[in-house]
Amino acid sequence: MKSIIPLSKPSITKAEIDAVVETLVSDRLSMGPRQARFEEMLADLTRRRHGIAVSSGTAGLHLVLAALGIGPGDEVITTPFSFIASSNAILFVGAKPVFVDIDPGSLNLDPKRIEKAITPRTRAIIAVEVFGNPTHMEAIEKVAQAHEIVLIEDACEGLGGMADDRPIGNFGRASVFGFYPNKQITTGEGGMIVTDDDRIAELCRSMRNQGRSVNPAELAGPDPTNAARYGTWLGHERLGYNYRLNEMACALGIAQMERLDELLEARRELAMRYIRRLMEFDELILPDMPSAQNASWFVFVVRLTDLFGLVERDRIIQGLRRHDIGAANYFPCIHLQPFYREQFGFKPGDFPIAEHISNRTIALPFFGELDETAVELVVQTLKVMLQREQLLKR
Ligand SMILES: Cc1ncc(COP(=O)(O)O)c(C=O)c1O
Repeated sequence: MKSIIPLSKPSITKAEIDAVVETLVSDRLSMGPRQARFEEMLADLTRRRHGIAVSSGTAGLHLVLAALGIGPGDEVITTPFSFIASSNAILFVGAKPVFVDIDPGSLNLDPKRIEKAITPRTRAIIAVEVFGNPTHMEAIEKVAQAHEIVLIEDACEGLGGMADDRPIGNFGRASVFGFYPNKQITTGEGGMIVTDDDRIAELCRSMRNQGRSVNPAELAGPDPTNAARYGTWLGHERLGYNYRLNEMACALGIAQMERLDELLEARRELAMRYIRRLMEFDELILPDMPSAQNASWFVFVVRLTDLFGLVERDRIIQGLRRHDIGAANYFPCIHLQPFYREQFGFKPGDFPIAEHISNRTIALPFFGELDETAVELVVQTLKVMLQREQLLKR
């Protein structure tokens, strides 16, 4: 059922609608100038040489791992407290996800634990800015450098955020963004790889497009045999996928990027409003964002204190939903998802910090257009739910 106050909602104005309509009548619906412009905008924002638009954040992670030649026998360190795609991409290439427990403050990977999990088989770390929080990314980058393994930044939740003076999307060998409708900007579905590495960029461009050569004419040269092999739309150099992002999506992305400051500011203001209103609630732990001014707020997730656990948390979420307020349990731990348990034998207790936190989180409605009245309704309803749980405890 549709909530009166949904969990998230994209911000679409006339600018986005006009941009998509203009594209539809332009006759160029795929691989055109809008893709190039959208890629350039993301590369500029993250101070990278290349942007490669793809059909989703998941596709982007898959391509980066494939471009690095990571595969069977390799281990990739990642977090159990994330959206499942950050780990599934490791399975797509046949490598093994090695989970490491998180830092209970930022909810990101704990750099010290990463060091302990490195083995001779470790090829990469996929680190996520969970809920947009960049804490530890620099330290994780140093660990990766010291051990000569690759850092891949899963920046899907952090577009527009800064870690001191570096933008999210500027860490490690390559970074990946996602543009699902709940994100800071959306293209409906979509993603973007950014990197300074020319070879990775070339491989990702080729693999998103069915393994076609990035530069068929140059590759073919004057030899007619080669021209037949590479010089046409039906020449394929390597195994590839169809992970292209169409021009309508890129037009939407450009229009959203032009409003990025405004979109981020609205989310910041909303986060501050929630914090001011929820500070007095003893039952809650509020998000621990490092520098509120530079943060990119993806979602607003509160945590219950140890007074409560999973049962109470689930009841509160159900209660909010019964009152037509969107709420969610961001995130259930990846290692406890049914097929991870089956395939790898994970069980409760394997990553106690992530599990403890995951049992107590509540994502509240969060999008720039959520007004003061709606926030007040969320806060008051949450207050009633918490009081109810206090009474049930007596
Ligand atoms: C941390 C993280 N990684 C990967 C993804 C996957 O992105 P997409 O949904 O665009 O495939 C998401 C987005 O949902 C995410 O939050």
